[in-house]
Amino acid sequence: MRISVIGCGYVGLVSGACLAAIGHEVICADNDASKIRKLNAGEIPIYEKHLDAVIREARQARRLSFTSSVPEAVNFADAIFICVGTPPLEDGGADLSAIEAVARTIAAEARTSKLVIEKSTVPVQTGGEVKRALQVYGKNKGVKFTVASNPEFLREGTAVVDFLHPDRIVVGVEDSAAESKLREIYQPILDGKFNCPVHGKSCPPLASSQFIVTTMNSAELIKHASNSFLALKISYANLISDLCEKLGANVEEVTRAIGMDPRIGPQFLRAGIGFGGFCLPKDVQAFIHLADKAGVDFAMLKEAERVNKRRIDAFIDRARRALWIIKDKKIGVLGLAFKANTDDIRFSPAIEVIARLRGEGARISASDPEAIERAKSVFPDVQYSADPYEIARGAEAVLILTEWPEYVALDWQRIHGSMLRPLLLDGRNLLDPAKMESLGFEYYSFGRPDSAPVTAN
Ligand code: UGA
Repeated sequence: MRISVIGCGYVGLVSGACLAAIGHEVICADNDASKIRKLNAGEIPIYEKHLDAVIREARQARRLSFTSSVPEAVNFADAIFICVGTPPLEDGGADLSAIEAVARTIAAEARTSKLVIEKSTVPVQTGGEVKRALQVYGKNKGVKFTVASNPEFLREGTAVVDFLHPDRIVVGVEDSAAESKLREIYQPILDGKFNCPVHGKSCPPLASSQFIVTTMNSAELIKHASNSFLALKISYANLISDLCEKLGANVEEVTRAIGMDPRIGPQFLRAGIGFGGFCLPKDVQAFIHLADKAGVDFAMLKEAERVNKRRIDAFIDRARRALWIIKDKKIGVLGLAFKANTDDIRFSPAIEVIARLRGEGARISASDPEAIERAKSVFPDVQYSADPYEIARGAEAVLILTEWPEYVALDWQRIHGSMLRPLLLDGRNLLDPAKMESLGFEYYSFGRPDSAPVTAN
């Protein structure tokens, strides 16, 4: 099938590349001409595992192209995915102006009937507004617009695998023709019949129950409700962690055991400095906003957000208690990205921690396997090094702020030997407290026996 994808951000690029990988002919459009120039020159603007190879192969097979002309993309295919950004507004709601702009362009430019599929995360009832905009601004008589919602559940860092091997595909449709078209689009994944660019062979088919057909409103709600539930889970684990600290239990032991109950599940129970990124925080805000507008008191979610904000306060407080004076001390930071396996620093807890410590006069030196370049645009005068040993040398504390697995494998003895004071504040519960203490570190993490208050008073 021919497919158009509008918006070459994180969702659009991954979706476009993967749709091409499963056999479709895809054009991806973005009105940022410099981004398109880079993509056409083979540069991938984000770090996402497997994405460069998938894009390269799809382009070689002539199944993927890029354009800065949205009208060209509109008339390339009869199925158009909208993947533009929906950033947060001041009041917590989602800014849907880019969605409206795309809908207007589609309406004005379409010469044949279109299925317009929203993939961007949007508040419930946006599909209805898109439909209205398409009708209001439609220019060509006889052109019919159908709207569908097909939310994405991609996690940064594993987005390509998540797209090609989803745990569910949700489609919210207004009629059976739209459902059939979306089935056709995803058929190679449903049948497991495509040459998987990640595994190099065909992959198991999806169970028919994993293709979920709903109304548009339900599909839109499913996305926000999923992300909000994940946020609730993390904040719950973080509160359990606080209790463990106060009462002398170990959060790792507690969450491992509760996660074995299949009704709870083991994931998203990792305690630490809290959730960040461009999705969870903004989706929680947007969902709270939506519930407020609908007259539903979602205090539970507001509390999850509040708990999350307090994580950074607690971490800074811990650093302050351990270091006493922060001003002029060299602090080494391991991790800038909002989570491992991405270069994304948007709403990263690490960035917030650095901003606060700098505000108190700390001299920060920072490392990250992928995110240094992006961090430079926020803190141009921080000292960066790709070498974690370099940032630890002469430091009075090292802070772990992103859960990069490579940090576990560092030569911690060497780091211990090079620090001015062997103080380790692990904001992600990444390392083994007993091991770190046996190496001679003063080591603090969250909700584990090591996490007792630093001073006696
Ligand atoms: C999230 C959802 O997990 C995806 O399903 C969704 O498709 C995506 O948002 C989206 O809306 O596009 P992502 O933003 O990639 O994905 O990040 P997550 O893996 O959810 O992690 C979010 C934050 O929570 C990170 O800062 C991570 O470090 C933190 N986290 C995660 C914890 O603090 N504890 C945990 O147990 C898990």
